[in-house]
Amino acid sequence: MMHSVLDRTSMIGVIGAGTMGTGIAQLAAQHGHKVVLYDASNEALVNARTTFSKVFARLVEKGALTSQEAEEVKRRITFADTLRGLSHAKLVVEAIVEDMAVKQGLFPPLANLVSATCILVTNTSSLSVTALATATQHPSRVLGVHFFNPAPLMALVEIVPWTGTPEETVIAVAHLIRGWGKKAVRTKDTPGFIVNRVARPFYTEALRIYDEGLADHATIDWAMKELGNFRMGPFELMDMIGNDINFKVTETVFQSFFYEPRFRPSLSQKKLVEAGMLGKKRNRGWYNYALHAENAQPQKNAALGDAILRRVRAMLINEAAEAVLQKVASVEDVDLAMTSGVNYPKGLLKWCDELGVASVVEELSRLQSEYQDERYRPSPLLKRMAREGKQFYA
Ligand code: NAI
Repeated sequence: MMHSVLDRTSMIGVIGAGTMGTGIAQLAAQHGHKVVLYDASNEALVNARTTFSKVFARLVEKGALTSQEAEEVKRRITFADTLRGLSHAKLVVEAIVEDMAVKQGLFPPLANLVSATCILVTNTSSLSVTALATATQHPSRVLGVHFFNPAPLMALVEIVPWTGTPEETVIAVAHLIRGWGKKAVRTKDTPGFIVNRVARPFYTEALRIYDEGLADHATIDWAMKELGNFRMGPFELMDMIGNDINFKVTETVFQSFFYEPRFRPSLSQKKLVEAGMLGKKRNRGWYNYALHAENAQPQKNAALGDAILRRVRAMLINEAAEAVLQKVASVEDVDLAMTSGVNYPKGLLKWCDELGVASVVEELSRLQSEYQDERYRPSPLLKRMAREGKQFYA
C-alpha cells in the first residue's frame, strides 16, 4: 500500500467521543493537527465539547498554554455527526465501545469513504487487531495503537501491527506517535499486548498470597511498596482501577490464552465484585475509604515482606521473559512498557539481571515443586539463560 507521510499537516480523524477518544483528539490537536471527532451519539459530542472547554481552561490556568494557544488548539478540533466528516483524514483512530461486532461493523464503511492511503487504527485494549483488520476490504491499512488513560498524560503507547501490516506503516505511525511526545513500543497482536499481560501477576500472585492467608492485603501492599519500591501496592491499585475492571481484564486474558494457569483469576476478587466492593469509586474495596474508617495496619515483618516481594517479582519477571520468548516484544520494549506504562521502579528484565537469572529460576522452581502447579513453571528462556550464564543486557 502506498501511503502519504504523516506530519503535522495531516488531518486526524477520531471515532468515539468517550474517555479515550476525547483524550486522543486533545493530544493530536495540541500537536498541531486538525482533528475531526465523530460519535454516533450526539450527546457524547456535546459532552466532549464541554470537556474540551474545561480541560483547556485548566491548562491556561496552570500556565501550560496561553489563552490564545488554547483557542487555537480548540479551533483545530471540529465535530462530525456522520462518518463522512472523516473523509479527508490521513489517519483515523477508532475508540468506540469494546465490542468486536460493533467495531467490525464500523471499519468497512469507514475504509470505503477515506482515501486509499489513509491509515486506520484501533485503540482496542483486548480485542484481536487481526480479526478486526481482516474484516475490512484493505486489511493492510489497519493496525492497533493502544493509548492508556488519560491519553494526553500517559507516556506509553503500544503499537500493534498484525502480520499483514507493512513495515513502513508501522514506522510512520510510531514516528507520528513519538512526535506527540509518547514512548512507543511495538508489540505482536496477542492478548493483553505487553502491559496488560506482563502486569497480571502483580495482581494475581498478590491475590494468591492473600487467598492462602500468608499475609493480609495491607501487608502485601506494604512489602511491594516499602521493599520493592513500587509506587502503589497491588490491592491499592486494584481499588483505584476498580475491582470490576481489573477482574475483567484478568478474566479476558485468562480466557484468551486458552485458560493458561498463570493467568487464573482469583475467587476472592470475584466475590468483592459481586458484593459491589469495586474500590475507590464505591468508597469500599480491599480498603474502606469512608471518612474515619479503620483499616488494617500492615504487619511489618522483614522476612515475610521479603518472601512476598520475591514471589510476586519472580512471577512478573517470568511473564516478561515469556513475552520475549514468544516474540511479543523486544527486551528493551518490555522494560520500557512496564516502567513508562505502569511506572514500575525498574525494568523487569533489568531487575532479573541484577538479581541473577539463576536465582529467579530457583524461586520459581521452588514454588512449582511446592504447589505442583504449572502456573509456576519457569520460562524455558530463563532456564536456558541460567544454564548458559546469560543476561538480558550485556
Ligand atoms: P467510552 O464508553 O467512554 O466511549 C465510547 C464512545 O463510543 C461513546 O461515546 C459511544 O457513543 C461511542 N460509540 C459507540 N459505538 C459507536 C459507533 N458504532 N460509532 C461511533 N461511535 C460509537 O469508552 P472508552 O473508555 O473511551 O473506550 C474506547 C475504546 O478504547 C475501547 O475499545 C476501549 O477498550 C479502549 N481503551 C480504553 C481505555 C480506558 O481506560 N477507558 C484504555 C485503553 C483503551
